[in-house]
Amino acid sequence: MALVRFGVSIEKGLLSKFDRFIKERKYTNRSEAFRDLVRRELVSEQWQGNAEVSGAITLVYDHHKRELVNKLMDIQHDFGKLIISSQHIHLDHDNCLEIIAVKGESRQAQKLADSLNSVKGVKHATLSMSATGKGI
Ligand code: NI
Repeated sequence: MALVRFGVSIEKGLLSKFDRFIKERKYTNRSEAFRDLVRRELVSEQWQGNAEVSGAITLVYDHHKRELVNKLMDIQHDFGKLIISSQHIHLDHDNCLEIIAVKGESRQAQKLADSLNSVKGVKHATLSMSATGKGI
């Protein structure tokens, strides 16, 4: 992809904050940091606009609660087309960590994450909103 250079006018104070941000995040130059900020906004827009996205849902729960495990399984089967991979890790005697990778419409991914999160007994759930890499 061809690179284009362009000038940006920005308040001195804001630029100082940007440079501090760049340093904290270990960027070596402003351009790379700026590109990532733009891409982050584009990915956010993809999620808001129901575009095709990818992401990961993580769940922590106690597997001794059989009804909970069955419910989580039922929900995942309902979203079979969306789920591209899942991994189950036995954290300790009681707790399980499940990582569910998804690819598809953002609204469906959000719906799956909400459905899993709202099952009684799920201790913690997160949805990492990422991209397919296209359009960014
Ligand atoms: Ni387990």
